[in-house]
Amino acid sequence: MESMIKTWLVMPILFLYASYLHYCVNGKSQVPCVFIFGDSLSDCGNNNNLPTSPKSNYSPYGIDFPVGPTGRFTNGRTSVDIITQVLGFEKFIPPFANTSGSDILKGVNYASGGAGIRNETSKATGFVISLGLQLTNHGVTVSQIATRLGSLDKAQQYLNKCLYYVNIGSNDYINNYFLPELYPTSKIYSPQQYAEALIQELSLNLLALHGIGARNYVLVGLGRLGCTPNAIYTRGTNGSCVDEENAHAFIFNAKLKSQVNVFMKNFSADSKFIFINSTFESDGQNSDRFVVSNAPCCPSKLSGECIPDERPCYNRSEYVFWDEFHPTEASNLLTAMRSYDSHNSGFTYPMDIKHLVEHETKLELESTNEIPSNLGTSS
Ligand SMILES: *[C@@H]1O[C@H](CO)[C@@H](O)[C@H](O)[C@H]1NC(C)=O
Ligand SMILES: *[C@@H]1O[C@H](CO)[C@@H](O)[C@H](O)[C@H]1NC(C)=O
Ligand SMILES: *[C@@H]1O[C@H](CO)[C@@H](O)[C@H](O)[C@H]1NC(C)=O
Ligand SMILES: *[C@@H]1O[C@H](CO)[C@@H](O)[C@H](O)[C@H]1NC(C)=O
Ligand SMILES: *[C@@H]1O[C@H](CO)[C@@H](O)[C@H](O)[C@H]1NC(C)=O
Ligand SMILES: *[C@@H]1O[C@H](CO)[C@@H](O)[C@H](O)[C@H]1NC(C)=O
Repeated sequence: MESMIKTWLVMPILFLYASYLHYCVNGKSQVPCVFIFGDSLSDCGNNNNLPTSPKSNYSPYGIDFPVGPTGRFTNGRTSVDIITQVLGFEKFIPPFANTSGSDILKGVNYASGGAGIRNETSKATGFVISLGLQLTNHGVTVSQIATRLGSLDKAQQYLNKCLYYVNIGSNDYINNYFLPELYPTSKIYSPQQYAEALIQELSLNLLALHGIGARNYVLVGLGRLGCTPNAIYTRGTNGSCVDEENAHAFIFNAKLKSQVNVFMKNFSADSKFIFINSTFESDGQNSDRFVVSNAPCCPSKLSGECIPDERPCYNRSEYVFWDEFHPTEASNLLTAMRSYDSHNSGFTYPMDIKHLVEHETKLELESTNEIPSNLGTSS
């Protein structure tokens, strides 16, 4: 679920490619590891073998991905895939469901399509890995890392330098609060109270992550929930966005942003948090980059996912949306590039990912000796 992406300059993107190449040349990523928590916007295969309906490991998903369908809910790379490439990782961060034999020291992706902050979110569609369970899974990874590095202390020192990317919450609305016939939340909470409850539960999870080594957080806000093709088709009037649903995203985002301030005061000595504003629209005078923003590229099922094996639109880069909920790789590219290197503080607050990790690169260089050299061997 992503904002309608409007105008954006091509120039900064070209510059970014130049610097991305530079990072690749010296073969070293800007952070040693990235851990990813979230939903279908970041999932890279965790749902493939789950008894659940949000799945995307079939054609035409992955039509523009090097190895075809993987369980990513888009035609190519997700935003966080692209962010990790820009950070200098040569391989994509593997899904927790398939980490055996892969290098967990570079990070793990726990995201699960349909997942929410709340445990009951998406229950009606089957089993999904909610945020709490994603943290449980991370606990498993942390003890494996401790075994490899020799102690929990060493693991924590190592994890302190990693990036923690958390992009979750859309389903707590789309597959919970907005479905009063299936979930009671809208009868229990006002919109303000619900956003508050979500931010509180998210914060507890972020504190728990801090307890097991997290220090650098990227917290991604919700996109315009009322502007997905699904919302427009099912609840929009005259093909326009559902303002009321967008209002929920704005409330959630404002609270998430102020929670970033709370965290930065509380942890000013040892942690950094940034907020990414996914409802951001640039107000530039550039003409729209995308031609179609209110219809999906692939013919979609009632549930909003692509119909298996149906031919998608020809020019994917002209579409904001791939299916009725998820952005195309072209949208993800813009989101990723401005998350990494934003020229506008309205988009990344209080800094972009590039500045968040700058400090880490320095730290890492200073402490290289602490990291054992036998990292590649498994335990
Ligand atoms: C699982 O990981 C292995 C080794 O990295 C890879 O070859 C395989 O394609 C992966 N499978 C899935 C379903 O991601
Ligand atoms: C949600 O599930 C997690 C993991 O199973 C559990 O630790 C937590 O207590 C649950 N939260 C609620 C509110 O039920
Ligand atoms: C929908 O569009 C029609 C034609 O443009 C207009 O007459 C009507 O008032 C619109 N309805 C709403 C609810 O905006
Ligand atoms: C501040 O940090 C401490 C741990 O260092 C934690 O126990 C406390 O709950 C945090 N408070 C807030 C508001 O995040
Ligand atoms: C996100 O950006 C939009 C402008 O495009 C602004 O209206 C909104 O207030 C911003 N949200 C937050 C939480 O800063
Ligand atoms: C695809 O769309 C982009 C953006 O509108 C356009 O620049 C490009 O020429 C199109 N490519 C083709 C092959 O139509």
